[in-house]
Amino acid sequence: MSQYAVIGNPVKHSKSPQIHSLFAQQTGRVVEYTAVTLEAGEVDAFVKDFFASGGAGLNVTVPYKGKAFELAASCSQAARLAQAVNTLLLDDAGRLRGANTDGFGLVRDIKVNHRVEIADRRVLILGAGGAVAGALAALVREKPALITIANRTVSKAVQLKTQFEKLANISAVGFEQLDDTGYDLVINGTSLSLEHKLPPLNQEILAPACCCYDMMYADSDTVFVSWAKANGATLALDGLGMLVEQAAAVFEIWHGVRPQTDAVITQLRSP
Ligand code: ATR
Repeated sequence: MSQYAVIGNPVKHSKSPQIHSLFAQQTGRVVEYTAVTLEAGEVDAFVKDFFASGGAGLNVTVPYKGKAFELAASCSQAARLAQAVNTLLLDDAGRLRGANTDGFGLVRDIKVNHRVEIADRRVLILGAGGAVAGALAALVREKPALITIANRTVSKAVQLKTQFEKLANISAVGFEQLDDTGYDLVINGTSLSLEHKLPPLNQEILAPACCCYDMMYADSDTVFVSWAKANGATLALDGLGMLVEQAAAVFEIWHGVRPQTDAVITQLRSP
């Protein structure tokens, strides 16, 4: 049986094994997909051993996406732009290849599943860490009217702005510099939801008919989703759909077939 796994830390509560097993059932495949918690010093040796002993593919999650990028001998364009890898496989020459489907998953969930336009809209991104770096290229490709990146550490937002400013109307600020520009789409890419906290936000950042999207997900509303609902966002979404969509793109890379995602999202949402 083909072996797959997701590596990260923490990864125990990852929904990826369940998602890949539902995709496998749906497409008539038999795969084994496990979640493996690793310490930083173990990643290199685990990846080498996994593929040397016949493993077919790895997903990589927080905090090892940058490390996986370094390990890959070649990368997809999305992974190169993000300098982060969420998927590893062997190429035809038996060398490690990295891909990154996070940005694709985010944009597809927003546009296709929730029918929210990104083109010509004002987009605010909260955070400038790995999750945001992974999503920016896909967002830029949608040609929003403008992108503002707001981050606690402004220099990290500026670094991302510099990387993408030839491709988009993009600016970088600290949270306290956010003015009353109303944004049509506000994406939370900080890791604060994990701690049940919010960046300092003012209701005025939300334009009428604004969509708020948290890249994190939880069984109940994240603090950002609750804040968005309480402050009048028309749509307040968490990142479960993004997770399923990025996994579907990974499944296609590994198995050559794209699974249906809507039934899987519905199933994961049901208690
Ligand atoms: P990930 O891979 O999940 O993106 P990361 O690269 O460590 O993780 O990035 C975490 C993001 O959450 C960053 O934007 C970080 O802000 P800094 O760049 O200033 O560190 C943001 N973040 C984490 N804790 C925060 C806090 N207490 N207040 C504001 N922003 C925070």
